[in-house]
Amino acid sequence: MLEKKIADLLNDQINKELYSAYLYLDFANYYADEGLDGFAHWYEVQAQEERDHAFMMRRYLINNGIRVTFDAIAKPNKEFKNHMDPLEKGLEHEQYVTSLITNIYHVAFEQKDYKTMQFLDWFIKEQGEEETNAEDMIKKMKLFGHDAKGLYALNQELASRVYTPSTTGPSM
Ligand code: FEO
Repeated sequence: MLEKKIADLLNDQINKELYSAYLYLDFANYYADEGLDGFAHWYEVQAQEERDHAFMMRRYLINNGIRVTFDAIAKPNKEFKNHMDPLEKGLEHEQYVTSLITNIYHVAFEQKDYKTMQFLDWFIKEQGEEETNAEDMIKKMKLFGHDAKGLYALNQELASRVYTPSTTGPSM
């Protein structure tokens, strides 16, 4: 059985991960509307990964005898000034999620909840990768996004992202 504080934080994090999926689908909606289907696809894949994160946390709680409860998912902010805007908002969002995961890890450490720390190890690593991905997108956009040819090529590259369900997920 998990401590209530840890269970509550993880339960709340499920909502945050589902919000992340919702947010990235909203980015995809924007790019689809702008005719950048590769960017839209990239964020659709990202939304699927975020949903998976929520499912993993839900499963961990259930496996530990916790009754999971859901809250309303917040409405994503739909205002984008330009094609770079969602990329920068995406990095900011990932940095925020990293701070949330780090906080849960810290609380687990304080409570000597080594099992939850082990579960969260996967997410700590995943956050590092997601921040790097978000930074790479911004770098590429700065380098190639100025002219139509560069944007076209970048859009093509992002269209090739493949969704692969994680087989090496966290230990439950
Ligand atoms: Fe599930 Fe992008 O953090």
